[in-house]
Amino acid sequence: MDHYAVFGNPISHSKSPFIHAQFAQQTSQNMDYQAIEASVDDFENTLNTFFKNSGKGCNITLPFKIRAFEYAHKVTPRAQLAGAVNTLKLTDDGLLIGDNTDGAGLILDLNNHHVDLQNKRILLLGAGGAARGVCGALLEAQPSELVIANRTHRKAQDLATIFHDHGTVNAIKFNDLKGEFDLIINSTSASLKGEVPPISPSLIHPETAIYDMMYSNEATAFNLWAKAHGARLILDGLGMLVGQAAESFALWRGLKPGSAQVLNLLRQHLST
Ligand code: ATR
Repeated sequence: MDHYAVFGNPISHSKSPFIHAQFAQQTSQNMDYQAIEASVDDFENTLNTFFKNSGKGCNITLPFKIRAFEYAHKVTPRAQLAGAVNTLKLTDDGLLIGDNTDGAGLILDLNNHHVDLQNKRILLLGAGGAARGVCGALLEAQPSELVIANRTHRKAQDLATIFHDHGTVNAIKFNDLKGEFDLIINSTSASLKGEVPPISPSLIHPETAIYDMMYSNEATAFNLWAKAHGARLILDGLGMLVGQAAESFALWRGLKPGSAQVLNLLRQHLST
C-alpha cells in the first residue's frame, strides 16, 4: 500500500482525505491518504518522518506552502512561478519534486463549467498567495488581459511584474477599474469576514462569470453581491479544491480521476 497525506495546521476539517479516497476507489489504486497536523516549529521534521516511513507523496496546505517550496529538492516551473508548493512527489531515485497544482485545479473547474478564457478579459481580486498560485495558469489560457486589483496596490504591482513575461497583465487600483470583465475571480479572504472588495457593479455584464476561490455551505458574500448584480454564472472554490486534488493525484499515480461525482458528494456533505 502506498502512503499519501496532506500536511497543514489546522488540518482536521480537510476534505482532501475524502477526495483522494474517492479518486483511489474510482481508479482502483491501492493507496491510503491521511490528514496530518504538523506543528509550526516542526513541519520539516514531520515531513522527514513521513518520507522515511515510505510516504510517496503529499499535499501541503496553509500555512506551509512556502516552506514546502524550500523543502523540495527540485520544483516545477509552475511551482517556481507560484513561489509555493502544494504537492510533493518522491521519485524512484529519492528526489522530492515540488509542484503547484492550484492554478491547474482552477482551470480544470472553469473548463468543466465551459468558461472560456482565450481572448477574454479577466479580473483577479487580491494579490496574496492564492492569487499568485493561479496567475500563471490564467495567463497560459491566453486571455486578452489579466487585471490584478488589490487593497494594497503595491502587492498587485509586484504580482504583475512577476508575471510580466507570461502575457498581458496589469495592476489597477479598485477605484480605477473600468469596462466590463468576462470573468471576475475573487482570491481575497474578504468573504471570510462577510466582506466584498470595493469594486463597481458596472464591471459585471450579463455574460460575466464569477469565481470566488472561497467556499462554504452558503453562498459567499462576494457571490451574493455578484448575483444581485446580474452575473451569468457564479461559482465557488469547492470545484478548485477538487481540481487541484485531481491534478496532484494524476502526478502521483499517472491517472487523471474524474471530478464531477466527488464534487457532487462534497456539495451534499457541505449542505448537511
Ligand atoms: P492568501 O494566501 O489566501 O492569498 P494572503 O496572502 O493573506 O492570503 O492574502 C489575502 C488577500 O486578501 C490579500 O490580497 C488581501 O489584501 P491586502 O494585500 O491589501 O492585505 C486581501 N484581503 C483580505 N481582506 C480583505 C478585505 N476585507 N477587502 C479586500 N481585500 C482583502
